Parts: sequence; structure tokens; C-alpha cells
Amino acid sequence: MGDEAATDYRAAWQRKPVLRAIYQDYYRRILAHCQPQGRTLEIGGGSGNLKSFLPDAISTDIAAAPWLDAVADAQALPFADCSFGNIVMVDVLHHLAYPKRFLAEAQRVLRPGGRLVLIEPGITPLSRVFFHLFHPEPVRMQAEPLSDTPQCDPGNPWDSNQAIPTLLFRRDARKLAATMPGLRLLRADWLSLFAYPLSGGFKAWSLLPGFAAAPLLRLEDRLMPALGPLMAFRLLTVLERTQ
Ligand SMILES: C[S@@+](CC[C@H](N)C(=O)[O-])C[C@H]1O[C@@H](n2cnc3c(N)ncnc32)[C@H](O)[C@@H]1O
Repeated sequence: MGDEAATDYRAAWQRKPVLRAIYQDYYRRILAHCQPQGRTLEIGGGSGNLKSFLPDAISTDIAAAPWLDAVADAQALPFADCSFGNIVMVDVLHHLAYPKRFLAEAQRVLRPGGRLVLIEPGITPLSRVFFHLFHPEPVRMQAEPLSDTPQCDPGNPWDSNQAIPTLLFRRDARKLAATMPGLRLLRADWLSLFAYPLSGGFKAWSLLPGFAAAPLLRLEDRLMPALGPLMAFRLLTVLERTQ
């Protein structure tokens, strides 16, 4: 994350209570799926918000920042085999040119039974239209994320394809199991119906006041089984290293 982008993200985080409420709900959900034992590695920490929620996590990014613990490329992790109980990430996988290389690295640095827990864009009929109209990052549903060809510009950590997580963990779940037998997909759940899109994310605007976030998120949990496949904006995915 370029210095300017990181500073803007940190300013939005300070300014927007609704954003903090939504992300702290994300972090709680991520933590709920983490293994209790072992260190936790964060990939693509960016503006460093997870660290305020999980201070013991080792926060890294491909771009250095004073609030992060180390510089690390997700596709070539500078850590020994079996070093971590958990790997966590928010909005990073869809920026990786070689998702399959990352998954192999994740399997390598997790210890057996270790978990990879991520929250990423989710592509549903409604979110696809919304991202197409209001989000600068592309949604390319024809992509083959398990191929060896780059899924976005390998030299630009901000290039992306928002479709990657949905393709990998929903459309290609069987192919993923055959390609990466050492990483078992435990769940890929739809998440975020109203609060996240109404909050404007890290943008300056928000259509939702901070106090409305918690009750709306509770309502979303009740409506998710019926509405998730039609209009969810995010995917919460958990994988576990099998051997
Ligand atoms: C959309 S930001 C998300 C930042 C943070 N996780 C958040 O939720 O605000 C994507 C981050 O992924 C990082 N990134 C992109 N490619 C990476 C790579 N190959 N390895 C590690 N981090 C990478 C970028 O530098 C950027 O900080």
C-alpha cells in the first residue's frame, strides 16, 4: 500500500466509526475460526487495523510500513515450515498474481491442523453489479485462478481481480481439493449484505451512521441464508492444513 493510500486509509479508519464497527465484526469472525494454539501471521496488513484488534499477530505486507512487523510477499513467505497456527488476511488474495503459489506457501508455513482464514470480496448477482458500477477494481469471472498464468500485474500490488476468491472457493472448490490436497476447505460463507456497501468502506462518504452498524449486522446474520447467494458482498473462507 503506497504511503499516501495507507495514510488515507488510516485517516478514514480514525474518522469513520461505522467502518471500525464493520471491520471489528470481520476480525471477530476471523478470530472465531482461528486455532487457539500457535502464532498468527497476517498477510497484507496494509494500514494495520487488524493489529489493534489482534496485537500478538505478526502483521506483514509486501510494502513496508512503520506499524507492520515485517515485509513479506504472500507468494514467497520468508518464514520456516510449520511456523504458524493461523494465517489471516482481509482483502489481499484478490490482489495476488499467483494465488496457487500463495496457497502452497500458506500450506508450507502453517503447522498441521493450522488454519488459513480470510475475508475477501464475494461475487453474487447484486454485488457484481454494484462493484461494476461503484468500485474501481475489476471483476473478471472468466479467470482460472489455479492456473500458472498471472491473474493480475505481478509488479503492481494494487492490481486485482475481485472474482478470484469466489472462483477459487466456490466455483473451483473440487478442483482446489484435487490441486491442493494438503489444504482442506472447511467453509466459504457469504457475508455482508447492507452495512459494508452502505458504509462506503474506506471512501470519504457513508450512508450509514456508526450506531446503526451493530443492529444491522445482527439483522444480516438472520437474513444471510435467504439473501446471501443473491446479494452478499463478501466471502469468509476457512482452510485447514491436513498433513
Ligand atoms: C486492499 S489492501 C488491504 C489491506 C488490509 N488488509 C485491509 O483490510 O485494510 C491490499 C493489501 O495487500 C498488499 N499486497 C498486495 N500484494 C501482496 C503480496 N504479494 N504479498 C503481500 N501483500 C500484498 C498491498 O500492499 C495492500 O496493502
